[in-house]
Amino acid sequence: MRVAIAGGTSATLGSSIVSALLATDGRYTPVILSRETTISKKQSLAQNGVEVRYVDYHSQTSLVAALKGIDTVISVLLIPGPEWVTVQLNLLHAAEAAGCRRFAPSEFALTSSAQSMVDILDAKNKVWEVVQTSVNQHRIDAARFPCGMFMNYLGIGCPDSGRRKDALAGFQEGPFLIHFENPESPWVEVPLRSDQTFSRLTMTDIRDIGRFIVAALDITEPWAGRELGMVGDTLSFEDLISICQKYVERPIEIRPLTESALQTKLLTIPQSEFIARMECQLAIVCARDMSVVPPTLNELSSVQPTTVAEYMRHYWGPERYQG
Ligand SMILES: NC(=O)c1ccc[n+]([C@@H]2O[C@H](COP(=O)([O-])OP(=O)(O)OC[C@H]3O[C@@H](n4cnc5c(N)ncnc54)[C@H](OP(=O)(O)O)[C@@H]3O)[C@@H](O)[C@H]2O)c1
Repeated sequence: MRVAIAGGTSATLGSSIVSALLATDGRYTPVILSRETTISKKQSLAQNGVEVRYVDYHSQTSLVAALKGIDTVISVLLIPGPEWVTVQLNLLHAAEAAGCRRFAPSEFALTSSAQSMVDILDAKNKVWEVVQTSVNQHRIDAARFPCGMFMNYLGIGCPDSGRRKDALAGFQEGPFLIHFENPESPWVEVPLRSDQTFSRLTMTDIRDIGRFIVAALDITEPWAGRELGMVGDTLSFEDLISICQKYVERPIEIRPLTESALQTKLLTIPQSEFIARMECQLAIVCARDMSVVPPTLNELSSVQPTTVAEYMRHYWGPERYQG
């Protein structure tokens, strides 16, 4: 069964999903959709035996041709601005026209209600509304896959440079809430719930996401427009900090954030600073305890994902813990 991964060239989710599909010994065959025209990137993927099909996301003809013989389309695209919605809807409609059976838009974040509180993530909800209409009209089957925060944020600052690369699993963004990048002064911003207790969050290792996607492909009944949440670990900031403190040498400074302080800060951030606004809005989501993803797909699969304790021991612990 051929599975197309739109944006499958990415070092993070693309690599995770392609590797997991390749590990099924031919049950699923990955096909990467890419705008990439430079030979070198395509060649390195082709060396792994992975087919790469060139697409123009603005041409229905190009997309439909590229989706010939594809059963399921998984999008891991990330495109700044309104293009993200347009491109994914073009992909959806091309998948319908090409007769694909299943479609998953580029989600891999939070639940729809949490995303509606974050300007930039609301684009995912806009795409999902249209996907749901397609599901309801039986034009295609679909699911959305929330996973919480990538656990690999914990790899930023990992002291062993040899293991840091593995810990990050291709992740290249800067720190958010958890700041271990300076070993002399580690600190964590903790969004507080309205009763002033520490909020909780879901974290999933990028590498487990590919394994969860394979588990979702294995589901024989229709995805039926469900939110199939995947969870590596869900824990309170208290527990997160106490696990991390075993490995981070200096005392971790806790910087509490109340929702009212976050709301005041949000008013000062201009609309143009979309990353700063996203981070502030995500912290508000946490403060409302909405950064927790229900483990729906965990319950439907046998995937044993990495927990935060395992992740920290493996990447931050003494060498003997590796393996
Ligand atoms: N939960 C979390 O903590 C977390 C963190 C970061 C990201 N995410 C989510 O994970 C998903 C993937 O993010 P990512 O950081 O892995 O993505 P990424 O690597 O930045 O991009 C994925 C792919 O999108 C394609 N792409 C980039 N710009 C494009 C454009 N203008 N038009 C068409 N295609 C374009 C590229 O493929 P080609 O160049 O080959 O076409 C690229 O390999 C997103 O849904 C994002 O929101 C979640």
